[in-house]
Amino acid sequence: MNNNMLLKNQTVLVTGGSSGIGAAIAVAMGSAGAQVVVNYVSSEDAAHAVVKEIKDAGGEAIAVRADVSDEEQVLSMFKTIFKKYGTLDVLVNNSGIQKDANLIDMSLSQWQRVLDINLTGAFLCAREAAREFMRRGIDEKKSKAAGKIIFTSSVHEIIPWAGHANYAASKGGVMLLMKSVAQELAPHKIRVNSIGPGAIKTNINRNAWDTQESEAALLKLIPYKRVGEPDDIAKVAVWLASDESDYVTGTTIFADGGMLLYPGFATGG
Ligand code: BGC
Repeated sequence: MNNNMLLKNQTVLVTGGSSGIGAAIAVAMGSAGAQVVVNYVSSEDAAHAVVKEIKDAGGEAIAVRADVSDEEQVLSMFKTIFKKYGTLDVLVNNSGIQKDANLIDMSLSQWQRVLDINLTGAFLCAREAAREFMRRGIDEKKSKAAGKIIFTSSVHEIIPWAGHANYAASKGGVMLLMKSVAQELAPHKIRVNSIGPGAIKTNINRNAWDTQESEAALLKLIPYKRVGEPDDIAKVAVWLASDESDYVTGTTIFADGGMLLYPGFATGG
């Protein structure tokens, strides 16, 4: 199969598509032939730059503003998508933030905002996507499935993370949200999966890799000895969105250079 056409004529929504992993996923979906909806909340210019990059490469895209944790804004974003492209085929539930603090210093708003965006936002978008997938059903010209939902989770859906309890709790929640929804939607031929990135070079973790010392410390946690790039995740997302993964549902694919392999035990234990 022509790889460029894996997602031909499919409409893909990427939440948080204006930066980092989301931007790379949006661009990769565009070059796989999809019409891409680049969702953003505050970085309008960055979202338009992603749209431009997709169009310059011969693809189709629009930018749509919505705070995924706000139900009204999510509903209105989906209306905009249906008006423009008629339907939705793939949701990439990618929006995510960190607001790091030790437990005893963590404010309720630091806790709440992370849960609101990373977990509630993912729920709201998954619900609207599933409603549309079930309404429309399978369109065999486009895909064997009636729709696909992909969560950008994290290795921290498994690995506890001191100083980041809000974030780790949100990703643990994403794991069972994904699995429960996958179980519920499989009979409707809707596939639901997660990608679990490890350390990927984006703004969210810039201080973990932007000096030699910090990168060296980070590499101790990565057996494959390379910090990931957004494109490492985008490739997995395109595969999960395509029929190449038609028998894959309810699972997290970790793309983490081996971060989950308990690297401390390579020499200890
Ligand atoms: C976090 C990053 C972190 C990585 C590995 C990601 O989910 O957002 O800040 O570098 O996990 O710990």
